Amino acid sequence: MADAPVLRLDGVSKSFGGLDVIRNLSFEVARGQRTALIGPNGAGKSTVFNLVSGVYPVTAGRIRVNGQDITDVPSRLRMSRGVSRSFQNIRLVPHLSVLENVLIGQTPRISRLAEVLYPVRLVRNSHWKREAMGALERAGLAELAGSQVDDLPYGVQKQIEVARALLGGADVLLLDEPAAGLNPEETEELRERLRNIADQGTTLVVVEHDMQFVGALCEHVVVLDFGEKIAEGTPAEVRREPRVIEAYLGSDAE
Ligand SMILES: Nc1ncnc2c1ncn2[C@@H]1O[C@H](COP(=O)(O)OP(=O)(O)OP(=O)(O)O)[C@@H](O)[C@H]1O
Ligand SMILES: [Mg+2]
Repeated sequence: MADAPVLRLDGVSKSFGGLDVIRNLSFEVARGQRTALIGPNGAGKSTVFNLVSGVYPVTAGRIRVNGQDITDVPSRLRMSRGVSRSFQNIRLVPHLSVLENVLIGQTPRISRLAEVLYPVRLVRNSHWKREAMGALERAGLAELAGSQVDDLPYGVQKQIEVARALLGGADVLLLDEPAAGLNPEETEELRERLRNIADQGTTLVVVEHDMQFVGALCEHVVVLDFGEKIAEGTPAEVRREPRVIEAYLGSDAE
C-alpha cells in the first residue's frame, strides 16, 4: 500500500490499572513527514512509543504501519514490519564496544542466536557485522567502533543510539528525546543528521521538549496532554492553539 500512511493510530487507549494514560488517540504520519509528538511531562508521549513498538499492548484501538495492522504483532517482530525506536534513557551496555552495542540492537532480526553471543572479534565478517559497520560509517562514527561505550561523551552515546535504531532500515523511526542532555553544538549536529536521515526516506517521529528543535526539524506536530490529543498541525499552528498554551503554562515544562 504505497499511499497508506507510514503510521496510523485509530482510537488507541491505554490504561495501567485504573489509570487512563492514553485516551482515544488517533493520528496519521504520512511517508517522509517529519513529525513531533510533544506535550507536558507525563502527557503520555513515551507510552505512545511503547504502544507502537509493542513494549505494551494497547487497551483499545488499532495501530497500522504501511497500511498493515500491527496491533497484535509481538514486539520482537515489529522491527521487521518497519518500526524502530530509541529510548528516552540511554540503553547502551557501558562495558561493551560501540560495534557490539549496535550488533546487540539487531537481536530481534538475527535468528542465529550464536551470531549474537559470540564476542564481536570472533564473529567473521558476517552480514550483521558489515551492516553494523555500515551504519556507523553513515553516522560518522566508524572510527569509534572499537571504543568502549562508557569512555565516550554523553552526546556521542546518544548518536550511537540513533545509529543503532536506524540499522534495521526502518520505515518509521521513533526517537524519544534524542536531544535531551546535548549541548547546543551537539543538538545542531543531531538536527542535521536527522534531516539527512529523513531525506533518505526514513519517516521520523520525534518526542522532544525543545520547541526550537521541533520547529527547525519537523513539519507536523501532534500535541498530547493527559493522554489526549489537544492539537495537531504545523509548529506555527500548534503554538497558536489556546489549549496548547494553556497546557504548557499549567505545567513546569516551559
Ligand atoms: N508501566 C507503567 N505503569 C503505570 N503507569 C505508567 C507506566 N508507564 C507510564 N505510566 C504513566 O503514564 C503517564 C504517562 O507517562 P509517559 O512516560 O508516557 O509520559 P511522557 O509524556 O513520556 O513524560 P516525560 O515528558 O516526562 O517523558 C504517567 O502518568 C506515567 O506515570
Ligand atoms: Mg517520556
